[in-house]
Amino acid sequence: MCGIVGYIGGQQAAPILLDGLSKLEYRGYDSAGIAVYNGEKIQMVKSTGKLKALEELTQGGAVLPGFSGIGHTRWATHGSPTDVNAHPHFNKDCSITVVHNGIIENYLKLRKKLEGKGYQFVSETDTEVLAHLLDYYYNGNPLEAIVKVLYRVEGSYALGILFKDFPEEIYAVRKDSPLIVGQGKEGNFIASDVPAILKYTRDVYFIENQEIVKLTRDSLNFYNIDEEEVQKESTRIEWDMSAAEKAGYEFFMLKEIYEQPKAVADTLYPRLKDDGIVIEELGMTEEEIRNIGKIYIVACGSAYHTGVTAKYVFEGLARIPVEVDLASEFRYRDPIFQPNTLVIVVSQSGETADTLAALREAKSRGVRTLGIVNVVGSSIAREADNVMYTWAGPEIAVATTKAYSTQLIAEYLLAIYFAKVRNEIDSRQFEDMLHDLKKLPDQIEFLLGGKEKLQHFANRYLATEHVFFIGRGIDYAISMEGSLKLKEISYIHSEAYAAGELKHGTISLIEENTLVVALVTQKDLYKKMLSNIQEVRTRGAFVMAVATAGNTEVEKSADYVVYLPETNPYFANSLAVIPLQIFGYYVSLGKGLDVDKPRNLAKSVTVE
Ligand code: F6R
Repeated sequence: MCGIVGYIGGQQAAPILLDGLSKLEYRGYDSAGIAVYNGEKIQMVKSTGKLKALEELTQGGAVLPGFSGIGHTRWATHGSPTDVNAHPHFNKDCSITVVHNGIIENYLKLRKKLEGKGYQFVSETDTEVLAHLLDYYYNGNPLEAIVKVLYRVEGSYALGILFKDFPEEIYAVRKDSPLIVGQGKEGNFIASDVPAILKYTRDVYFIENQEIVKLTRDSLNFYNIDEEEVQKESTRIEWDMSAAEKAGYEFFMLKEIYEQPKAVADTLYPRLKDDGIVIEELGMTEEEIRNIGKIYIVACGSAYHTGVTAKYVFEGLARIPVEVDLASEFRYRDPIFQPNTLVIVVSQSGETADTLAALREAKSRGVRTLGIVNVVGSSIAREADNVMYTWAGPEIAVATTKAYSTQLIAEYLLAIYFAKVRNEIDSRQFEDMLHDLKKLPDQIEFLLGGKEKLQHFANRYLATEHVFFIGRGIDYAISMEGSLKLKEISYIHSEAYAAGELKHGTISLIEENTLVVALVTQKDLYKKMLSNIQEVRTRGAFVMAVATAGNTEVEKSADYVVYLPETNPYFANSLAVIPLQIFGYYVSLGKGLDVDKPRNLAKSVTVE
């Protein structure tokens, strides 16, 4: 979603803003703009389309000289992607300018009020309300005006604000949308995410809800909503810029697919100690684990799919009942929490609006929460009672791959650990599972070696219109992810179906040469799946099966088989998803699409 960058310091601001925005492109956007104070007034340039257009219009920033400025990439919500709707937005005499990520929910009411006072709006955005509202409350004191605005607006926001009267200062504030502050040697920064400023500094401050920051070239002051100054600790970012760059790969998605063996190992190995599982950050005693009565796993998209898999693993191994919920549903469905419930929220970005709201809902009802999160210092990581990090490193491609794989690992570790503590598995089973877990990074590596064959196969399906993914049990959960991976980056309609459910309606869509991808990793369900494959094949489907090595009988039913190395059936998702990711990637590549930035999508969904 929208990206924000701001800079104030000793260097020309515009090139830094453009560079920072380019590092936020992965978030998804359809227009961009920058505003810089030139010693006399605030100058602004905006453009629809890719950042390249803005770079050309500003001659790489040269036409906007000055040492303080704010920039923005916009992912349209209120008003179509046009130059006028692009940010920044001005007040009436162009003395205040604002960039915004989030949604001002009461903007219509505010707009009406301001129009009644003579304010004229030029855009259709909710953001312009902020510029005029700041103007309305501004009386020579920026902090005071910002606080008054915060009391009036409802919704989510990260804001960067520049006042012409105070060109030596930039202001920023956030609520429920991400925003960080970077402290550099020759200036200070605001940004939606670390990659935008990592080239200049590793020292960042994570801003709390409704905290206001005043940046000058050599100072940072933080205030609460009562305008009282607050002290904050900075965090040192340990990862390198190279982790957020393509390193010779055509697309981030392929790079990230290839990073999975390492990401999985990095998430797994530090938690395997002395032949056991140690999850220090869990913060639960064995007694508390034994007492868990129910688990909710709440997440969105692919993270939700890992939860669907985890339900089988938690229930099968630890014998704890699990409900998996889409965060956007959970937050409004008034769930019945029993005593000793644990809510696990899963999120790569740690900023997904619905997941964050679900977490808050659970906390407000007194339920214990655990976040499984990738982005260190993100809102969910900070607000959950405890956080278990997935160590996937920065994930840039919109379609998740390595974060998904590491979320699975975190969930397996928890389930096995809970099962052990609750005496639901014996030492032998425990050891066997750890043995299989340890093999996963190498097995994923092995599967990555099969990419040419999958590319060849994918190229046959560039023109196909519909694909079905089927499976039972955990294989159904894998189907969901395989289907999402294909459709989101290739724009081919696909559906995941519980294989036994197909004949209750959907099978009527199967016709000559429809591609059906059948997941056949679960021993207990193998025979059932072979029958389901037959059902679609006799209706003309072309079947690609993903099965465990040795189960060659599947070749009699399927037309094309990808074999997976043997593992514990609970962990099959970690292997089966690899060919599905590669298949989706190559269909998208073959169609000449922008694999990393599919249309209409954003990496971090910070609006509900
Ligand atoms: C799909 C994908 C999304 C995310 C979802 C949740 O490839 O990436 O479905 O999984 O938007 O995002 P996070 O994990 O950041 O909460």
